Amino acid sequence: MLRQVLLGVSRSSKIKQAVTAVPVSSGIVSRFVAGETSDSAVLATEHLVSDGLNVTIDRLGEDTTNPDEAKATADAYLELLDRLADAGLTANAEVSVKLSAVGQALPGDGEKIALDNARTICRAARNAGTTVTLDMEDHTTTDSTLEILRELRQDFPETGAVLQAYLRRTEADCRDLAHAGSRVRLCKGAYKEPESVAFQPKLDVDKSYVRCLKVLMKGSGYPMVASHDPQLIAIAGSLADRYGREQGTFEYQMLYGVRPDEQLRLSREGNTMRVYVPYGQDWYGYLVRRMAEKPANLQFFLRSLISKK
Ligand code: FDA
Repeated sequence: MLRQVLLGVSRSSKIKQAVTAVPVSSGIVSRFVAGETSDSAVLATEHLVSDGLNVTIDRLGEDTTNPDEAKATADAYLELLDRLADAGLTANAEVSVKLSAVGQALPGDGEKIALDNARTICRAARNAGTTVTLDMEDHTTTDSTLEILRELRQDFPETGAVLQAYLRRTEADCRDLAHAGSRVRLCKGAYKEPESVAFQPKLDVDKSYVRCLKVLMKGSGYPMVASHDPQLIAIAGSLADRYGREQGTFEYQMLYGVRPDEQLRLSREGNTMRVYVPYGQDWYGYLVRRMAEKPANLQFFLRSLISKK
């Protein structure tokens, strides 16, 4: 309930103004965001990789409003990939891309612009020795994102997809994508969605997550279990055993700053653990989704706002 309210009011420009007045270095922002520059993302990646973790880096930004901005985002990914290659990090670090940041929502030929930009990033990632995963945004973009994924996978079959367990359609999408070579990140889903398309009670979302995970673990693709939920992590381990999956044939993923001790524990047990590291100036939407997931984050944030006054 609080989650839905927060995601709803976050669209107010006044609230956005108040929140973005907080510097990126402040506690709550820096807990979840590596920093504003590619330098900060590379530095955070170095630390995580030296701890035995893998990384996927997201350049923050969504709902780009013009083609130049979309191209600038793609260029920023190319620069980031160069930096990762120079630092010798591409064996352990890939990138995550939101299609709306590279043009998907632009009127007219937005999908084509997003596909072209995503293709450029996939090519650069392959040349650097790594991969791209396409983040999933709200349900109005799911068909378009999966269509762009299909196109990209013709040339870059290593491109990863994200599916959201809260959507009623996702079990069927998992069946479509559970084939050899298909990397699929399964998450619960972070947007405000109507009941017509998405399960609302947490229990229903969790049950859907388990059904989807069964399909992915049983299939022949590469499941990426993106959750901090202790129960789901335990179930993922049991399903991997049940379907005879060796370590290295699936991975766990968590967000930067969320349950860091658990990230290390899973990695030290021999699992592949990947941390999603966001960086950039446009951190508002990302931070709001993190606050909506956990009321304690919101309280911490409000306290830091008050102490700045
Ligand atoms: P849940 O929200 O039930 O949390 C379980 C427990 O984890 C909580 O009780 C708490 O202890 C801890 N926790 C969870 N979130 C926390 C937070 N923000 N701060 C502190 N503790 C927290 N979504 C999407 O729609 N599209 C996408 O592309 C992605 N991509 C993505 C990548 C990766 C690597 C991850 C881990 C997640 C995403 N998500 C996402 C976000 C995802 O949909 C979901 O909103 C969050 O992961 C929270 O869901 P949990 O599965 O962790 O469960």
